[in-house]
Amino acid sequence: MNKKLRKACIAGNWKMNKNRAEAKALIAEMTPLVKDAGCDVVICVPYTNLETALEATKGTNIKVGAQNCHWEASGAFTAEISAGMLSEMGVPYVIIGHSERRQYFGETDVTVNKRVRAALDAGLTVILCVGELLEQREQGVTEEICAMQTRIALGGVGKEELARIIIAYEPVWAIGTGKTATAAQANEVNHFIRTVVEKLYGQSAADAMTIQYGGSMNAANAEELLDQADVDGGLIGGASLKAADFAAIIKAASR
Ligand code: PGA
Repeated sequence: MNKKLRKACIAGNWKMNKNRAEAKALIAEMTPLVKDAGCDVVICVPYTNLETALEATKGTNIKVGAQNCHWEASGAFTAEISAGMLSEMGVPYVIIGHSERRQYFGETDVTVNKRVRAALDAGLTVILCVGELLEQREQGVTEEICAMQTRIALGGVGKEELARIIIAYEPVWAIGTGKTATAAQANEVNHFIRTVVEKLYGQSAADAMTIQYGGSMNAANAEELLDQADVDGGLIGGASLKAADFAAIIKAASR
């Protein structure tokens, strides 16, 4: 399978960090550092920063994403944001199924699938997160978990829509813990997920699918992770909050 068929994507997941002034300052700091990126650059900011981020990234190569969206178009869903609301603002990307949503907010594979479907219908590009818990890795069911999460999330998604799906493999035990999967572990699961996509959609679709790794990726380990044949970029939490670190990861992905 040929890595050259896919464009790498480095996406920052700011989580619940940065107020508007801080967001503006971070974007201003990172813009000149990432302007020559040879990969796609995305920052997924809190809802309250979307407007600020869209404004601050105008005319740059940085694209903006949200961190979730609801599956209904509108209605009595207090505090939720619909995919259509995001696309109407001009937000092109959305993260769906992040493990923190699954762990702390009752997200299930079924609701992930509904959100993916709604996001695609609204014209968004989805960063779909899958990954096993530590005990699942220890029980030897990493592949089963990742296959199940991927297959259910992609239910009802047509082959022609896959160009707007990025999969992020994020082992839950590596998120925010400083414990990175080894490059070999990341590549092994990314490759496995590609075979799941291949079974569903065929080889050309699998070859073209951008599959990121996420979980404590940083300026120091990015190069080794991104060198792996099946790692097509990264979903970056903590290190995306520092312009220099984020830029270093983007540089590693651009080689
Ligand atoms: P981390 O987060 O880089 O801080 O581990 C990654 C993520 O949750 O997407």
